[in-house]
Amino acid sequence: MEPIRLRRCLIVAIVAVVATALAAWGWAGQAVPAPGAPDGKPASAADRHKAKGVGCEGCHGKDEPAFVPSERCLACHGGTAAALAQKTAATEPENPHASPHWGGRMGCDTCHRQHEQAVDWCSHCHSFNFRVP
Ligand code: HEC
Ligand code: HEC
Ligand code: HEC
Ligand code: HEC
Repeated sequence: MEPIRLRRCLIVAIVAVVATALAAWGWAGQAVPAPGAPDGKPASAADRHKAKGVGCEGCHGKDEPAFVPSERCLACHGGTAAALAQKTAATEPENPHASPHWGGRMGCDTCHRQHEQAVDWCSHCHSFNFRVP
């Protein structure tokens, strides 16, 4: 292997180890302020869904608030990860829904927290400065 490629592989390996350690330690990534906060108190993403007619049950189902699988999000947002990625294909500087690492396989609430501030998860390693709704 040429030295450049080797160095790149090494960087990726180190970064992966560090990321795993940080994840285990509970580092959640860079929190970004939620948009649309007229009174300075950011409405949560769940509140914004409610305002669009999607209440608790729309995500959690009829029982006790339970785990929300990404498939449930996708059912309302494009149908498939590929279709969602197409919607944000023009996002600069990169497409958050189609990284070369995980493609569309990342859990939606890794970034789109519904009851907390959204997280630009890629900011662990990149400076794309995504504004996550
Ligand atoms: C748009 C989808 C969505 C809506 C609407 C929503 N939630 Fe959630 N909820 C989630 C997700 C995703 C999580 C996981 C944590 C996170 O992303 O903040 C969660 C987590 C929770 C939890 C914590 C559960 C646990 O096991 O830790 C509770 C309790 C909860 N929601 C209650 C509610 C209630 C009550 C409402 C209605 C007022 C509501 N949620 C509306 C998506 C939603
Ligand atoms: C029952 C359908 C439904 C479900 C389930 C649902 N959404 Fe939504 N979502 C909507 C609607 C409707 C809007 C408002 C669209 C608009 O204003 O054009 C919206 C808006 C959004 C937005 C953009 C605007 C904003 O203010 O946040 C994001 C991001 C989003 N949803 C992510 C999610 C995620 C992540 C989940 C799963 C945890 C989820 N949605 C579950 C229907 C749904
Ligand atoms: C790595 C973080 C990240 C993950 C994971 C993620 N998103 Fe997003 N999402 C973003 C960012 C950043 C934007 C804003 C894109 C823009 O402004 O062009 C966005 C925008 C959206 C929008 C609004 C798109 C539009 O323009 O109409 C929806 C809906 C959405 N995401 C749903 C989802 C769903 C569903 C999942 C899980 C299958 C998901 N996202 C996973 C970061 C993420
Ligand atoms: C654990 C660290 C880490 C995280 C988190 C991460 N990346 Fe990367 N990413 C890397 C490394 C390392 C490279 C390879 C850099 C190189 O080859 O010079 C890379 C390369 C890329 C590239 C190729 C272009 C470039 O800038 O070199 C894109 C596009 C990319 N990442 C997108 C994303 C997106 C989108 C996310 C969030 C969903 C993300 N990455 C999260 C470490 C990470």
